[in-house]
Amino acid sequence: MTKVIAITGKGGTGKTAVAALLIRYLSKNDNFLLAVDADADTNLPETLGCEAVKTIGDAKEALQEEITKPKPDHPDMNKESILQSKIYEIIEEMSGYDLLVMGRPEGAGCYCYVNNLLRGIMDKLVVNYDVVVIDTEAGLEHFSRKIIRNVDNLIVVTDASRRGFRTAERIHELVDELESNISNIHVIANKVTDANRDKIEKLAGDLKLDLIGMVPLDPKVEELDIGGIPLSELPEDSAAVIEIEKIAKKLGF
Ligand SMILES: Nc1ncnc2c1ncn2[C@@H]1O[C@H](COP(=O)(O)OP(=O)(O)OP(=O)(O)O)[C@@H](O)[C@H]1O
Ligand SMILES: [Mg+2]
Repeated sequence: MTKVIAITGKGGTGKTAVAALLIRYLSKNDNFLLAVDADADTNLPETLGCEAVKTIGDAKEALQEEITKPKPDHPDMNKESILQSKIYEIIEEMSGYDLLVMGRPEGAGCYCYVNNLLRGIMDKLVVNYDVVVIDTEAGLEHFSRKIIRNVDNLIVVTDASRRGFRTAERIHELVDELESNISNIHVIANKVTDANRDKIEKLAGDLKLDLIGMVPLDPKVEELDIGGIPLSELPEDSAAVIEIEKIAKKLGF
């Protein structure tokens, strides 16, 4: 059975860092792992230490062009097969995991048809993996797009700010409203310090959020980030790495 983990939360709280560290941990175990960058801003590849050039956006664009041409190049070809082969072409094989990048949102025109094809393709692709980790963009819009339909564990990353927690609450409400196929919602507090640890625990308790872990503010994470060095270079004994490992174990890995 595939386990799908999606990471969401307010902007700048550390979604991509958490995703990258989770991917780092899971890629060292015997998991057949797919990492998905679902942020149009595409930060995950760099944080993981790879440069993915082709995106699902490119593949969709190419198919959309083909569909809207007065004289398509391959009029007899099944559109789903064309898109599927394009998607399989852009999957980057990294050490210990595969990487798929969504890329920019679609251009003008109606992409409903292409998006429907894509959903079907993603359904088939996802089941090939033991675990899928999706880094999403800030905001809640992507929930309605639902390119990957079933999520086992939605992780909301927050910092110590009330706004971060407010976003976590709103995501909870939205998930209920949308009746989406999300089985479990957890919260990770990130950039935690000794000064705010107790307050965070209390706030999460008051809001009845499932606080699955508290990742310390780790100066080494900031140091690597500013130097453009991937988080794979973080030492094993760094505070963030250790906490993410604990969280992964709580998630059943
Ligand atoms: N535990 C941590 N300790 C120290 N710095 C951190 C930690 N987690 C993340 N950061 C830093 O915080 C900044 C934002 O992190 P990141 O890009 O992962 O956030 P994000 O939520 O993905 O942002 P966006 O909403 O733009 O996608 C980065 O500079 C990153 O290095
Ligand atoms: Mg990000």
